[in-house]
Amino acid sequence: MDIVEEIGTAPARPRRRPASAARAVPAAAPAAGTARPEAPPGPRTALKDRHLLGIQGLEPEEITLVLDTARVMAEIATRPVRKVPTLRAKTVVNFFMEPSTRTRSSFEIAEKRLSADTLNFSPSTSSVTKGESLLDTARNLEAMSPDMIVIRHKASGAPHFLARHCRSAIINAGDGWHEHPTQALLDAYTIRERKGRLQGLTVAIVGDLMHSRVLRSNLFLLKTMGAKVRLCGPPTLVPAGIASLGAEVHLRIEPALEGADVVMMLRVQRERQKGTSAFPTAREYFNLFGLTRERVRLAKKDAIIMHPGPMNRGVEIDSAVADGPASVILEQVTNGVAVRMAVLYLLAGGSLGELAS
Ligand code: NCD
Repeated sequence: MDIVEEIGTAPARPRRRPASAARAVPAAAPAAGTARPEAPPGPRTALKDRHLLGIQGLEPEEITLVLDTARVMAEIATRPVRKVPTLRAKTVVNFFMEPSTRTRSSFEIAEKRLSADTLNFSPSTSSVTKGESLLDTARNLEAMSPDMIVIRHKASGAPHFLARHCRSAIINAGDGWHEHPTQALLDAYTIRERKGRLQGLTVAIVGDLMHSRVLRSNLFLLKTMGAKVRLCGPPTLVPAGIASLGAEVHLRIEPALEGADVVMMLRVQRERQKGTSAFPTAREYFNLFGLTRERVRLAKKDAIIMHPGPMNRGVEIDSAVADGPASVILEQVTNGVAVRMAVLYLLAGGSLGELAS
């Protein structure tokens, strides 16, 4: 059951952060019950919404705020004591209804570094496998009064549904084919650290475009920040209408890579192809769309190679490239923790100024 599978038809934006968001304010922030003052003109100091459901609709200043906050969080990771008390006494539920290694452990480490109490639900430990509806599960989670719920779900729109029914702040950790906002934020952080900016860069995104929530979140983010996006994949895996979101679409990899600053490879998501195959064989896919050392040479000399993981080596990417000097794939994983710390911190009402001082 997929609630929203159409590109660009994201569920309605949730209501703005109400005064009651002060409920989740960490120790050093204004006292509980105090409404957050309107942000003064100038750089953003808080996110508009009390949830992070997607990148679509975020302002450039909000994205910059997350990335700047993540930078301070990354510095915390270099200290001898890598823990700060900002989310002490807050409870975060990690509600992962789809397999996940990286994203789930990244959120868990981020929560622990911020001293939150965490609780993990997965299909094997949840009554969803006993037939409980998402609404009933949500109501039961809510009854335990968590401050935040991090949700990954196979149904697009599931986090939006929780946001409508729960008082907790909801973070989307990947919903169906729709969005994966923290992945796009960590990708943007990685690009900005390496290239110093996002604006004006050419980013080539290659692979299974059809099933990729990573693609959709990245496309929204990169366009919002003024980057140029080229998309490439076999015609069977290019979603109809994707060009209308402002990307150049290529059916051959060579022109897509030419002169690119960043090459982002996407996994071929066989598990979502539901019995059909979008291409004859993995070998043919690799021959036509695989990232090889020869193809990397078409991009700029200092281009970086990215992949959200998990990788299919020898299908979308050659091992020599994945482990080569231009690859920032493991940096993406490291940066994921800092970016998720930043998101948790900001949604809990923390401010960048407070953190830096
Ligand atoms: C991505 C996902 O789950 O959407 N992976 C991730 O979050 N690290 C991409 C993928 O599964 O291919």
